[in-house]
This record gives sequence, structure tokens and C-alpha cells, in this order.
Amino acid sequence: MKVERLLENPLVRRAPRVTEWLLSKLQKVPAARRRIDEAFDALLSPLRRELRPYAQVVPTYDRLPDVGRRPDEVLAHLDEMARRETERWSTGRVSGAVYHGGEAHAAFMTEVYRRFGQTNPLHPDVWPSLSKFEAEIVAMAADMLGADEARRSHGADVCGTVTSGGTESILLAMKTYRDRALAQGRRGPFDIVVPATAHAAFDKAGAYFGIRVKKIPVGPDFRADPAAMARAITPRTIAMAASAPSFPHGVIDPIETLSNLARANEIGFHTDACLGGFVLAFADAAGVTVPPFDFRLPGVTSMSVDTHKYGYAPKGTSVVLYRDRALRRHQYYVATEWPGGLYFSPTLAGSRPGAPVAQCWATMVRMGREGYRAAARSILETGRRIREGIEAIDGLSVLGDPLWVIAFGSDEVDVYRVLEAMGRRGWSLNGLHHPPCVHLAVTLRHVRPGVADAFLRDLRASVEEARRAPSGEETLAPIYGMAATVPTRGLVGEMLRRYVDLLYEP
Ligand SMILES: Cc1ncc(COP(=O)(O)O)c(C=O)c1O
Repeated sequence: MKVERLLENPLVRRAPRVTEWLLSKLQKVPAARRRIDEAFDALLSPLRRELRPYAQVVPTYDRLPDVGRRPDEVLAHLDEMARRETERWSTGRVSGAVYHGGEAHAAFMTEVYRRFGQTNPLHPDVWPSLSKFEAEIVAMAADMLGADEARRSHGADVCGTVTSGGTESILLAMKTYRDRALAQGRRGPFDIVVPATAHAAFDKAGAYFGIRVKKIPVGPDFRADPAAMARAITPRTIAMAASAPSFPHGVIDPIETLSNLARANEIGFHTDACLGGFVLAFADAAGVTVPPFDFRLPGVTSMSVDTHKYGYAPKGTSVVLYRDRALRRHQYYVATEWPGGLYFSPTLAGSRPGAPVAQCWATMVRMGREGYRAAARSILETGRRIREGIEAIDGLSVLGDPLWVIAFGSDEVDVYRVLEAMGRRGWSLNGLHHPPCVHLAVTLRHVRPGVADAFLRDLRASVEEARRAPSGEETLAPIYGMAATVPTRGLVGEMLRRYVDLLYEP
């Protein structure tokens, strides 16, 4: 049977999973596989070139060099690559990604690394400093997110652990709810109820830990819909979650209503404040009133907040917090019978780098409340300016009511072409879908003089360009276009896997 005819089958059109299954079967037929490979190669070849820009500049090592290269040679190659890459993010042309990036802060971080580069929190006997850092990072984050008030008003005992990033914090929180349910004698399969805009880390948690993830469509304001989420709760539901704010559209879900709902149903509630916890906690500095989203709400039983985003630590740390110690216990792993000795591990990894932990502690202590307040103020003010600037551009509209992570779409031009045109002007923004839009997460890189103006100027020009002649160097537009069309959605998962393959090709 012809590949095209199969893919046109109404069942396939409506069911992406069936399409994926079909694809896996078709790949076993050599002629079909060749055609499928050709189609994917054509789609991915521009990305292949983009991924390996150093092919002519730095040697490619697909086997160990016979004799090790001299450190100065290695450093020269690193310098070449870092020089080219630093310019783009340091001048504020990248959405999110580098949240501080100031030279003095980077130099301070290098000093911390110099002192802690060899350390590993797996061995608290060798490095008690790291255990102190982790305990204090958790305590400072908990205090920032209402632990004190929660203790006074509701007897909460907020605690947590340091993890490697937002995804790990979310994975662990969901595993914790699953293991608590099992310890309570509840029978699976379990599910969690989250808005469709919740971070993909919740899907990943579901896939890793065998939890069904019920994704509930958001309202027209792109915020979670409490009534619809309430309807999705069943006796199998172990937790609900929502974002403050969400990654795609930067809006804050109705955490108070949702956490009350969870409490009434005696299930957990996780506030994902990975992206914005450190900004929202200090938003009053910019005169912005944020609805409650943290442990001050009695129904919030866990939270994630990323120190490696707006906490301004270098990549490699986040914090997962729990309302009480009994809940945190379900996160830990202990092995008592292993011949390698008595083993315990609070998070997913075994050995872990200690340097990011030391850098995180040093950053938080150096910033202090005043530093975070000043940073939040400048980010929120720049966010407001950029949002107003986008709203003033003919043909663009801002999605929802965001503060500093601003998504925009268009009814008049293909927004992915705008994304590409911005790319040609040196900007790396995030392309999103359902609905098609693009976002900019404002960081301290964007608050510097001239950056917001340059962004808006280039955005205006890019919209005009997309309006005039939608041709030329096409990269992401066809892929997002493909992801948006029902008949081919099942192929997108396959395409992403092939893209990951590409990342690992020398
Ligand atoms: C709301 C939200 N949650 C979770 C994450 C995952 O964080 P990480 O990329 O550090 O794993 C992100 C990342 O952007 C996020 O924006």
C-alpha cells in the first residue's frame, strides 16, 4: 500500500499514536523506509548544517586522539567556539537561556568553581560544606516562598532538596506523590491532573514513573480551567499541578482555586514556579501585585523553583520543596542490602557535581533579598515595555496577560516566518504551538540599555518581511507547520527522535 494513502486514512488522521505505530511498521518495509528516510532527511538537513558550524574550524574527534592534545591547543579551540557563541547571548539576543550573565557575576562564579570543581555531594563526610550549602539553599528558597507564614498559620514544616534542574524537581515531586499513594495502600494506575500548558517535565514524569497525565485544555486567557480540572479528578488521582507562571505564555494559573480544590479532594498540589518563583516572590518591587501561589496557600503541598534560572546561579540546580517532612521522605532512595554498602540518595543522580551547588549558594548569598528585588524590578519593567511594544506592532497580538515571558501570535502573517526573520537578525526566540506563537523570556540580558528597543525594531522589520515575501531560507516554519497539521502530527515524534539522533552525530 502507498505510504501517502495510508497516512490519508481517516483513522490515522485522527490518531497521531496510530500514525506513529504505522510508521514503525512501515519502517520495516525497505522501500517505504527509504522514502520515509528521504522525507525526514530533506526536513532535517538545514538543521544538520546549523548544528555543526565548527566543522571547518575545530577538529572533529570521532575517536580518541592517539596522543592527547596540549592544553593550550584545547583551550584555543574552546576559545574560538566560546567567542562566537558568547556574543549572541551576552548582547541579549536569546530568549531565556542565560538569566544573569553579567561579567562580574560570571567571574565570581569562576572563582567558586575553582574552589569546588572536584567536589561531590554524595560524600557529605568528605565535603560537609556541600551539605551545609544544600540545606541552606533549601531553607532560603522555602523562606522566600512563604514557609514562615505557612508554619504560623497552618503548622506546615516546609522542607526540600536541591536537584539538578526544573525537570528533575518535577520528576521527583511526581514520583513522591506516587510513592506516597503506594505507601498509603492505594492501588494504581495513578493519574495527575495538569493544565495543557504545564511543562513537558510532567509528561516525562508520567512516562518515567507510570503515571497517567491528564492534560486539561486551558481557558481563552491561557490559564488553567479549574472547573475542567475538577471534573478530571478521580479516585486514581494523586496530585494536581499548575504553573506560576507557565513556560509557553508566561501567565499565572489560578493557584489558589486549584490548590483549594486539591485540598478538598485530599490530593497533592504542586506549584511549578521553576521559571518564575524568584521573580514573583519579589514582584512587589515593581509595584506588581501577584496572586498567592506558594505555601501560604494551605493546599499547596509541593513546589519547584529554579535557582539556575531567575535565581541567577549557573546551570545545574533547582529546588523541590514539600509542605512537610513525611512527604519528602517518599522522594528518597535507600538500599540496605547492596554489597557496595549502605546506600542512600535523595535525588535521581548518584554522584553529583558539587560545584553548581556551591555556586548556587554563593549566588543566593551574594544577591540577597535586595539583589533579587532589584533584578525583579528591572525585568518586570522591561517586560512591560516589550509587551506594550509588541501590542503596538500592526499584525501581532500578545497572548494572555503576561508579565515578562511574552508570547505573541498573528492572524495576518505566519508567525514562524517572523521567528525565522528574527533569527536572521541574530535573535534566538522560542517557537511554540497550539496555537502557533513565539515567545521572549526577558532576562537581565534584556534590561540593558538599547536591547528592548533593538528587539522591537527588529520585530517590526521581521513582521514586514514575513508579510512581503514568505520565501528564502526556510528552517523551522515547515516543521512547526507540519506539527500543526493533523495528518502529520504522528510523524512529529519520529522527527524529534531523528533530531536527537543528529545531536549525537559527530
Ligand atoms: C515552568 C517551567 N517548569 C519547568 C521547567 C523545566 O526546567 P529545566 O529546563 O531546568 O529542567 C521550565 C523550563 O523552562 C519551566 O519554564
